[in-house]
Amino acid sequence: MTFSHVPVLPSEVLSVLRPGPGETYVDCTAGLGGHASHVASVIKARSWDEAGGSGATVVLCDLDSSNLARAGGAVARAADGKVRVVPLQGNFAQVPYALESRGVAADMLLADFGFASTQVDDAARGFSFQREGPLDMRMDPSAKVDAATLVASLSERELASIIEEFGEERNARRIAKKLVQERTRGPILTTTHLAELIRGVVGRQASGGIDPATRTFQALRIAVNDEIGSINALMAAVDAEVRRVMAGHGRWLRPGARLAFITFHSLEDRPVKQTLVGLIRAGAEDLTGGVMTAGEEELRVNPRARSAKLRAIRVPGLAATSRAG
Ligand SMILES: C[S@@+](CC[C@H](N)C(=O)[O-])C[C@H]1O[C@@H](n2cnc3c(N)ncnc32)[C@H](O)[C@@H]1O
Repeated sequence: MTFSHVPVLPSEVLSVLRPGPGETYVDCTAGLGGHASHVASVIKARSWDEAGGSGATVVLCDLDSSNLARAGGAVARAADGKVRVVPLQGNFAQVPYALESRGVAADMLLADFGFASTQVDDAARGFSFQREGPLDMRMDPSAKVDAATLVASLSERELASIIEEFGEERNARRIAKKLVQERTRGPILTTTHLAELIRGVVGRQASGGIDPATRTFQALRIAVNDEIGSINALMAAVDAEVRRVMAGHGRWLRPGARLAFITFHSLEDRPVKQTLVGLIRAGAEDLTGGVMTAGEEELRVNPRARSAKLRAIRVPGLAATSRAG
């Protein structure tokens, strides 16, 4: 499996965010800085070439400190160092508090959920069932709990429920039983050991032509990084803040702010859709007419875009109507 370094839905993201001069962009999942570089180069051009300079700011957040550093470098290059870059290492669920405590309000926010190619391509990070590595899967390498710890410590019932819920794996109970049996013989510490155990239960060929280990690895990755809990927390904060902005007392979003979310599976998409549908009913503008997906041209060069869904809204406000462009 290969993962592209190219960001998904790049032109669609720019078309909904529409960066303006002097604006503040917050990237909740900076990754390799693909989207952030595109946005930064437009902010830079609009701030410096059109408006002769300004306090344009790009806030970058990632759990993964090495990705955050890469993204910072990519943004600095794209904006010729002319845009202020604020790095935030940590969970995007904390972004609202970080912005508020710094007195920063965003004109644009993007969250492109999931993992980055650097994480899955590096065997030592333990995300890939195709490469031998430690059973790790932490996006933040300083986090306390890795996948090996979960496999060693959860009960059979807890393992089955994680594999079923986060992996949508119909063999979850049989896989959990096998893992619990195996760990009485010795710890399960590597990606290949786990993958072989799963293949032994499911068979070599899972439905849909995917590797039988795919769903269980996805489930463990989501559990290790509390991915759905983090999305729920971010979306709850977005919901509360957009309603505050509409009532005239926003804390970390500006009136007219554009918010975009890219999801890759239904567990990620559900909380995003629910929140945005509620906000659209409350008066936010739907910028994507439901969802935008990748066109044929992008799918030819970036297979990861196949399952990507973009949803975006604009918060009503003066800035939305007076913004140029
Ligand atoms: C799909 S990549 C983002 C790619 C990025 N948009 C680009 O163009 O390069 C997702 C990134 O989000 C980060 N991430 C995942 N969950 C996170 C969380 N809860 N808080 C902060 N960052 C997170 C991952 O470490 C990864 O670098």
